[in-house]
Amino acid sequence: MLANVLLSLALACSASAAPLVAPSFPTVAKRDNSPFNITYSSPRNATYDSLPRLLIMATGGTIAGSSTSNTDSTAYTAGAIGVAALVEAVPELLETAQIDGVQVANVGSNSLSDAIALNISKLATKAVCGDDAPYDAVVITHGTDTLEETAFFLDITVNCSAPIVVVGAMRPATAISADGPNNLLSAARTAVSPLSRDRGTLITLNDRICSAFFCQKTEANTLDTFESPEFGCLGHLLSVQPFYHYPPSMPTFKKVYDISKVQSLPPVEIIYGFQGSDFHLVKSAVESGAKGVVTAGTGAGSLSTAGQPLIDSVIAQGIPVVRSTKINSGFVAPSTNATTIAGGVFNPVKTRRMLQVLLALGKTNDEIRAAFEEPLGSYLTQF
Ligand code: SIN
Repeated sequence: MLANVLLSLALACSASAAPLVAPSFPTVAKRDNSPFNITYSSPRNATYDSLPRLLIMATGGTIAGSSTSNTDSTAYTAGAIGVAALVEAVPELLETAQIDGVQVANVGSNSLSDAIALNISKLATKAVCGDDAPYDAVVITHGTDTLEETAFFLDITVNCSAPIVVVGAMRPATAISADGPNNLLSAARTAVSPLSRDRGTLITLNDRICSAFFCQKTEANTLDTFESPEFGCLGHLLSVQPFYHYPPSMPTFKKVYDISKVQSLPPVEIIYGFQGSDFHLVKSAVESGAKGVVTAGTGAGSLSTAGQPLIDSVIAQGIPVVRSTKINSGFVAPSTNATTIAGGVFNPVKTRRMLQVLLALGKTNDEIRAAFEEPLGSYLTQF
């Protein structure tokens, strides 16, 4: 009981100087939201009818985290607060959009399964793609630990112009200077901005707007952690208003895949490279059911001489092995006669998502190689 009272107080304080406002208009009739299992609809207010329609999918994470101490940023419970409380803690959201909320999950993002990621992608497509789509934009609240994995997955599987924005926070909702409320308002305003269309899935944290294709978590603890090394961010927010540095464009190497008929994502393991590694875990991965393997290799994706025979033995069984780099930045270029596939521009977790999608669509190993290697390879061979 006391914890609940503390939590309400902290949410109210952390969101803005304004206290939580009880809805003064009746809650609107719900739209045709049967596929979405809506658990929250924002109250009708004076501006409601003129506002864009926004679906917020909440999945948990630190943005929904709670602690009994307002200085705790390490031992709190992630995924403790529901979507309604997240929205109600930021009254400005009610002037931003007509909001429906769905609680897709409420867990730390390290526990989000492939099945949930698939569900989020299909729900997002239903929400905003097609002429009769019931929403104008989607925001997904998500733990930051694996945020880039879901965001990238959405970026390569949701095929329409509507904005999809993934957002998290580095401090729990109960912390002094919690970053969640500002990030959530940033995400909502970014999502409903016409400037955000045709940019693929976006990530907003700490006043930056990044493309999910390149954006990644770069620091384990600080607020200023989501960045796109080498590629930069697409835009910023000032006074919680989004603006972009360039007109809409898509990454050169991006392709979007139709996964509407995919029922599950095949298991793909990531194996880390290091000095003297013999990659013996590749064998265990395949024995325990992996349908593909990604190596987070050294440097530009190199594998040890000792590891190569074992890797070749799983490739001989028909298992694709895609090389990425543990550096988490830079490129793994195709090389002639390699038995492994070069991952190109993707870091290990994004390579894993891409391989899962290609395997789920029944692509052959040659097609998988082409999907990873041709975009970068076509540039390398043109002179
Ligand atoms: C999580 O990823 O669920 C916990 C960490 C965070 O959201 O920052």
